[in-house]
Amino acid sequence: MALPVLTAITSLTALSAYLNAKFHIVNDLKSGRSPTTPTAKDLAWLQTRTDQHKLLTYDLLADHAASPQQHDRPFVIFEGRTWSYGEFFENVTKVANWLVEEVGVKGGEGEVVALDGGNSVEYLMLWFAIEAVGSSLSCVNCNLTGDGLVHCVKLCETRFLITDQDVKANVEPIRSQLDEIGCQITYYTPSLFSTLNKTTPIPPSFREKVTQESPRNLIYTSGTTGLPKGVMLGTARELMTGRVVSNYLKLTPNDRMYTCMPLYHGAAHALCTTPIIHAGGTIVLGRKFSHRTFWPEVHASKATTIQYVGELCRYLVNSPPHPLERAHVVQRAWGNGMRPDVWEPFRERFNIPVINELYSATDGLGPLYNRNEGPFTANALGLRGAIWNWRFGDQEVRVKMDVDTEDILRGEDGWAVKCKDGEPGQVLHRLTEETDAAGPAYYLNQKATDGRRIRDVFEKGDLWFKSGDMMRQDASGLVYFIDRLGDTFRWKSENVSTNEVSDVLTSHPSIIEANVYGVSLPGYDGRAGCASIVLAPSLAFDDVDWISIANHVRKLLPGYAVPIFLRVTEELEYTGTLKLQKGRLKREGVDLEKVSGKDRWVWLPVGEVGYVEYGKAGWEDVKAKRVRL
Ligand SMILES: *[C@@H]1O[C@H](CO)[C@@H](O)[C@H](O)[C@H]1NC(C)=O
Ligand SMILES: *[C@@H]1O[C@H](CO)[C@@H](O)[C@H](O)[C@H]1NC(C)=O
Ligand SMILES: *[C@@H]1O[C@H](CO)[C@@H](O)[C@H](O)[C@H]1NC(C)=O
Ligand SMILES: *[C@@H]1O[C@H](CO)[C@@H](O)[C@H](O)[C@H]1NC(C)=O
Repeated sequence: MALPVLTAITSLTALSAYLNAKFHIVNDLKSGRSPTTPTAKDLAWLQTRTDQHKLLTYDLLADHAASPQQHDRPFVIFEGRTWSYGEFFENVTKVANWLVEEVGVKGGEGEVVALDGGNSVEYLMLWFAIEAVGSSLSCVNCNLTGDGLVHCVKLCETRFLITDQDVKANVEPIRSQLDEIGCQITYYTPSLFSTLNKTTPIPPSFREKVTQESPRNLIYTSGTTGLPKGVMLGTARELMTGRVVSNYLKLTPNDRMYTCMPLYHGAAHALCTTPIIHAGGTIVLGRKFSHRTFWPEVHASKATTIQYVGELCRYLVNSPPHPLERAHVVQRAWGNGMRPDVWEPFRERFNIPVINELYSATDGLGPLYNRNEGPFTANALGLRGAIWNWRFGDQEVRVKMDVDTEDILRGEDGWAVKCKDGEPGQVLHRLTEETDAAGPAYYLNQKATDGRRIRDVFEKGDLWFKSGDMMRQDASGLVYFIDRLGDTFRWKSENVSTNEVSDVLTSHPSIIEANVYGVSLPGYDGRAGCASIVLAPSLAFDDVDWISIANHVRKLLPGYAVPIFLRVTEELEYTGTLKLQKGRLKREGVDLEKVSGKDRWVWLPVGEVGYVEYGKAGWEDVKAKRVRL
């Protein structure tokens, strides 16, 4: 039975709140209607698929393969080779037969199968072969090793870790721990797959038990702090997300979307692969991000859309010119985290008319969309109009935060304080008892799930979901991303946004990348600003004009936000999902005894005209309070 709760919910706002939670969507348009809230037509379609027992993205692939128009159209392009829908589906069938007969997955049992690998066409085949046999997929981050990897395998309680031979070195060291929990490792390679020859169709009975609620996909958070947490996407959410995103982007069979983001992560999974399948378009898959392969692959594949994260765009904008960087047919860049200083340079240099910025999280509510073609909405996440505010203004709020404790600030009356126009605050989404159950939850981790909820915010008994993100909305309704909570820090009783400092640093020609964080200093409250920076290519440390950099940051930033320490490094550390790693840097701080590697340091004590070299003597001066900061 489909969405039984719907019949019980009568008011439109309650219905949309329920759908928001169920599909993790919030309405976001000047008109008050969200581009991605399922419409009545979408829900009717979901009902039809339910009645037909065709709730999987795999079933859509099967439909394409069986359709005379779609059979020979390209489905995936990978490293110069193209697979049509027909061919790809045949491979999926062979891989599914292999899973059942050779690997030992029980068809039709709905067991979880863990997949551990980087981007490849074999990975895509396995994903849908796992669906074909009625199993659900656990997408393990292929860069994990040791305890993190063991944790993810244990969490999904799987009997199978199907692993790309390329990451064998990450997996072998934990073999005995996997043996103990009865989890078997099976490696795959392109040559193994090319020998598979059993084309017997996978019987529909294997997928008979699949319901809207059955687990479909376990996606892990990046775990930049602590062990990764899992988010289990249900079958209906997986299917409907693909559909509504495809409709929102108006994808057609002629669309080709390039992604080099990892398939194990939500973005490439649910914002590229599944929407493209709904549309019958083409995925152009990059093995991983590299400036060397990016434009050649985009050019050769005739990609019409490229998927990004902000760091990727910054990297491209900082790279030397590439002969193919404008020789392409890309109409749109689609992704999240494009920073203000990169936005227009990216559009102009690479000649990409539309930047479609999105804010969303696998473990979050309330995505925001900004399809941007010109200056008015550039740099924003979204736009809220009067109708939106009237209908949904009480469903989503921004509240003032205590930057030190990361707690929600309480007024004298004990209630949280709503932000005014322009004030940064953490975004909260209202939950009700009904929507709570459908809202974001961590898989088998009640504590972490509870940790994202807060009660008694504005009145006794109310319930809200904490986004963990700081945003501000200006008087015209534009919404801007400020920082991830925990990234903003406090210095001299003021709040410093690491993103804003980073944008200013990288707008100086000598600095191409910056990772900003706060460090504790003995005898000081708050955290002092510190930035790990990468110098422009061919600029040597000794040739840097440190006075010019000091003037630049002092001109563009309030005094308290001027970074005191700069740590000059060869390259910044990123996670597999291209997020900046701050953990090690924060831990090491500025005590040079504890700092690893060969990085060079400068700092800017009060009274200095420009940054000057920082060494062990400087640290002694800090401790003895012989300098003013
Ligand atoms: C897919 O099927 C084709 C044709 O049956 C075969 O040539 C190819 O090796 C198979 N495997 C992969 C990974 O493409
Ligand atoms: C299929 O592959 C198996 C195992 O590699 C082999 O024994 C068999 O002869 C192959 N069958 C065909 C029809 O090629
Ligand atoms: C900084 O954040 C605190 C909450 O921790 C808030 O009360 C204060 O108004 C903010 N200060 C500024 C200058 O924005
Ligand atoms: C993650 O693993 C892939 C596949 O082995 C590798 O290509 C990539 O460089 C790794 N990324 C990071 C950030 O370690």
